[in-house]
Amino acid sequence: MPDETLTVTDNRTGKNYTLPIIDGTIKATDLRQLSVVDGDHGLMAYDPAYLNTASCRSAITYIDGDAGILRYRGYPIEQVAEDATFLETSYLLLEGELPTATQLASWTEDIRRHTYVHQNVKKFLEGFRYDAHPMGMLLGAVGALSTFYPDAKHIDDPTNRYLQRVRLMAKVPTIAAFIFRHSRGLPYVLPRNDLDYIGNYVNMTFEIGGRHDPNPVLQRALDLLLILHADHEQNCSTSAVRSVGSSHVDPFSAVSAGIAALYGPLHGGANEAVLTMLDEIGTKQNIPVFIEAVKAGKGRLMGFGHRVYKSYDPRAKLIKTVADDVFAQTGLNPKLEIALELERIALEDPYFVSRRLYPNVDFYSGLIYQAMGFPPDYFTVLFTLGRLPGWIAQWEEMLNDPEQKISRPRQVYTGPEVREFVPMARR
Ligand code: SDX
Repeated sequence: MPDETLTVTDNRTGKNYTLPIIDGTIKATDLRQLSVVDGDHGLMAYDPAYLNTASCRSAITYIDGDAGILRYRGYPIEQVAEDATFLETSYLLLEGELPTATQLASWTEDIRRHTYVHQNVKKFLEGFRYDAHPMGMLLGAVGALSTFYPDAKHIDDPTNRYLQRVRLMAKVPTIAAFIFRHSRGLPYVLPRNDLDYIGNYVNMTFEIGGRHDPNPVLQRALDLLLILHADHEQNCSTSAVRSVGSSHVDPFSAVSAGIAALYGPLHGGANEAVLTMLDEIGTKQNIPVFIEAVKAGKGRLMGFGHRVYKSYDPRAKLIKTVADDVFAQTGLNPKLEIALELERIALEDPYFVSRRLYPNVDFYSGLIYQAMGFPPDYFTVLFTLGRLPGWIAQWEEMLNDPEQKISRPRQVYTGPEVREFVPMARR
């Protein structure tokens, strides 16, 4: 058995150090012993944007970026997507095991009982302009929930944490639907307990005149899309939830930090940015000029590339199959043709191939959401609904991890050396 250690020589002192290798990592704090003079801080690891730093141990999601593998609690995403519902998947992520029928019924019933929001939330939402970006509204509204449930501060009480996770899973779709209605100047539609999770959300969103005739194919497609977005290890927004949650703030505030991070066009906002890009390209004939501009560094091919996947994002593959089902119901989204040609050209172009840039989860999802009747600026709200159980599961895992404490990275200081203050008269 090879010795799981790393021996390094500090050439500044000629000293050798042997550092244990655990799970393919060395502990950054072990570098502190590499010091030059007694009492100095020793060495730190420098890793801007955490390109090669494990921030935690997690048992929730496994990704192999080279092989294009994604598993939730060990189950391949292809099987979960095929056989589970979103609520079943949320239970798996949160509890670590697939639920029995009784457990799923209890989880579903708990959520069903908490779908209403305080009437004041409506007043809060009405304070936004008619054209407020839905993610800005969601960010504000979910953070505001912490003021309605001050008991959520008791994060050390597992029973209380369970109540807050139920409130989040139940109320965020209601708020999301209210935001959709606000953007259209339509009256809010209240939750209905006779509908399932997806059916209730779709009804609150699209009901007109007391009616919405559900399309089971579209509802299953939305259920599947939420499954595909449910968790993705330590991505930007999950890291935000963990970092903010590490201060022991309530989960509504921690999740609102995740929403803020997801809003960005490099992250969850990419699905909206893809549609903007396809609109700018306009026709298949314009694709070569657009590609050349990207290669010249003028903008990015949105929906392409990934920090971890250096092969085709397995979720993008599954989303393409969902697209076929949706477009069979809604008619083909004319932008699909441009997206498919864009993908074909990019996957043959050395610029993208050499950088291992492939379609990610956001490349096709927006085309489907648009066909379902959602506007581009609302797509990332749907990403939020999917990622919510993953954020909550990661938040709880962080709180229960004895190795974790308040997140507080160090820095390399590059500012001026000490200097005397200059009074105004002498400036
Ligand atoms: C999500 O982390 C997750 O798991 C996220 C996510 C999740 O489920 O939580 O999977 C969801 O956020 C998916 C990604 C959505 N974002 C986009 O589609 C925006 C476009 N893609 C990128 O901006 C980019 O690919 C990132 C942000 C996704 C990843 O960026 P990295 O890993 O920091 O890579 P990089 O910016 O250092 O780029 C490496 C090289 C650069 O070229 P060179 O400097 O070497 O010449 O690749 C180029 C980049 O210019 N590049 C792109 C590109 N992405 C990277 N060039 C053109 N188009 C792109 N999309």
